[in-house]
Amino acid sequence: MDTSVSNEDFLATVAEKSNGAALRGDYAHMDAHYVVQQDWAAYTEAEHDLWRKLYQRQMALLPGRACDEFIEALAKMDISAGIPVFEKTSKELFAATGWTIVAVPGLIPELTFFDHLANRRFPVTVWLRKPEEFNYIVEPDVFHDFFGHVPLLFNPVFADYMQRYGQGGLKAMRLGGLDELARLYWYTVEFGLINTPAGIRIYGAGILSSGGEVEYCLTPGTKSRHIRLDIERCLRTLYKIDSYQETYFVIDSYQQLFDGTAPDFTPIYQKLKSMDVLPANTLLADEIELLPAL
Ligand SMILES: [Fe+2]
Repeated sequence: MDTSVSNEDFLATVAEKSNGAALRGDYAHMDAHYVVQQDWAAYTEAEHDLWRKLYQRQMALLPGRACDEFIEALAKMDISAGIPVFEKTSKELFAATGWTIVAVPGLIPELTFFDHLANRRFPVTVWLRKPEEFNYIVEPDVFHDFFGHVPLLFNPVFADYMQRYGQGGLKAMRLGGLDELARLYWYTVEFGLINTPAGIRIYGAGILSSGGEVEYCLTPGTKSRHIRLDIERCLRTLYKIDSYQETYFVIDSYQQLFDGTAPDFTPIYQKLKSMDVLPANTLLADEIELLPAL
């Protein structure tokens, strides 16, 4: 999608990607940044109940598997009782790291998404999945966006990385590096693991909000690999959108992410254009598999 895409083109693209299924959100009442109001009073009691069930399922799985930063921030956010009021957490988040939460109707154009991140605004979808989507949902909903992503934004270094990613995204759009940079988001923000003194832990929102992948990604003996994150290598690596990941990249610290995205990616994008992409299950000759240890 290029930077000149119109709202109509974007909506048509989203509809096409969702196989013609009806769009979940109300795109008619957004502003120029795709921001809407969270109509909290409109959520039904059944939706709050579904949120509580999703929350409880994850909390039964996450201790000892999610990173400490996530668990600690989530406890302070106090969002177990139902779909949260964005404004409340947004004020707390702003006080902690200068980020705010903005409500969006669903998927938004890449340019808009990157612009939000570059300005320390995290877009959160307002609608919740249907009960039949309890275990799997194709598009990000409020549970994925809020539960999965917002807690780590309370960590100052990770929060800075997210802003830098947004700035890099705006630049990648100009440089033709979007596919490559998207892989970095996927393998870090969505499906990232971190090495800690207690063992490998999860920080990626795609895993943290998933009912099955929380256990799977840390289970020894699966066909998935755990390898140390090398950013250039990550940018070359294809990923799975319809199954659990075949490679999980492991970082040593959030500082590693921030420092690793400091350099200008222009020469990396140029170099990668002459190299083959790597299948999701690749293990290069000089790479060592890390064993998840619970
Ligand atoms: Fe996400």
